[in-house]
Amino acid sequence: MNFPNEDRNHGVKTVVVPAAGMGTRFLPATKTVPKELLPVVDTPGIELIAEEAAKLGAERLAVITAPSKQEILAHFERFPQLEETLTERGKDEQVAKVRRANELITPVAVEQERPLGLGHAVGLAESVLGEDEDSFAVMLPDDLVLPMGAVEEMAKVRAELGGTVLCAIEVDPDEVYNYGVFDIEEVDGREDVKRVKGMVEKPDPADAPSNYVATGRYLLDRAIFDALRRIKPGKGGELQLTDAIALLIEEGHPVHVVVHRGSRHDLGNPGGYIRACVDFGLRDPKYGPALRKAILEILDEVDGESPAGAEQA
Ligand code: G1P
Repeated sequence: MNFPNEDRNHGVKTVVVPAAGMGTRFLPATKTVPKELLPVVDTPGIELIAEEAAKLGAERLAVITAPSKQEILAHFERFPQLEETLTERGKDEQVAKVRRANELITPVAVEQERPLGLGHAVGLAESVLGEDEDSFAVMLPDDLVLPMGAVEEMAKVRAELGGTVLCAIEVDPDEVYNYGVFDIEEVDGREDVKRVKGMVEKPDPADAPSNYVATGRYLLDRAIFDALRRIKPGKGGELQLTDAIALLIEEGHPVHVVVHRGSRHDLGNPGGYIRACVDFGLRDPKYGPALRKAILEILDEVDGESPAGAEQA
């Protein structure tokens, strides 16, 4: 699948997708279906990430998976029999849907045998990077950052300021304990680019340095691998990517954030996932109009059943 060749002069060849988590918040569905394959309307989250990586012009999707989650890689294979059956039945639109993931990008599997944290997962990607790759991107499949193109913006900042560039969103100060939080200072004349002086993983709101938090897009300098080898287990007893970035900052490595002003969905929990499905569903030309009507009817019904619930909402 080809995307227009603009903005590709940034040298990001590999996009790392950590997808080894157990998906405990989605049980019982995730007993047999990896969280990354749950569909937003009809397309699995991992395929939306592959689309974003392909648009960026990356060549490789390094998918970090658990030994029990091989279905994620299977999604990127060809399905000749299915294609043949659909073709015979004249279902060309469905044939294109079956082929799409395979045509988007080349996946490479990297196995993470034990869930030792995001930092550990990213560290494993070193083995698939070419020697000429001095940077690479990480896209967390739980986070949909919209409109697509955040990493392109981050690459422009790296071309100008060097080092490592991350994606920040502003959240309610009470929410910071869910995220890596940035300690930032302004960069002259730049509203949406800030210099990062420090970073802390999931702090208590009272101790948080700001309400600018990491959302799941990272453009990392290769120096991160050395830092990842030197950190100790942090928050939750896991090796945290945040701690390796904080170590690089301490040692003088330039780190900046691009503040994302678009929207974001958190597919990592059922509440955020349902919201994403409603958002994508309402914008879908096929399902949108009926969904809008159904939502209004359901709202009426639910509010009628529980006036207290309606007031709270
Ligand atoms: C991870 C990172 C955190 C970041 C978040 C963004 O946390 O550790 O720094 O802010 O992703 O979604 P997780 O949500 O995997 O616990």
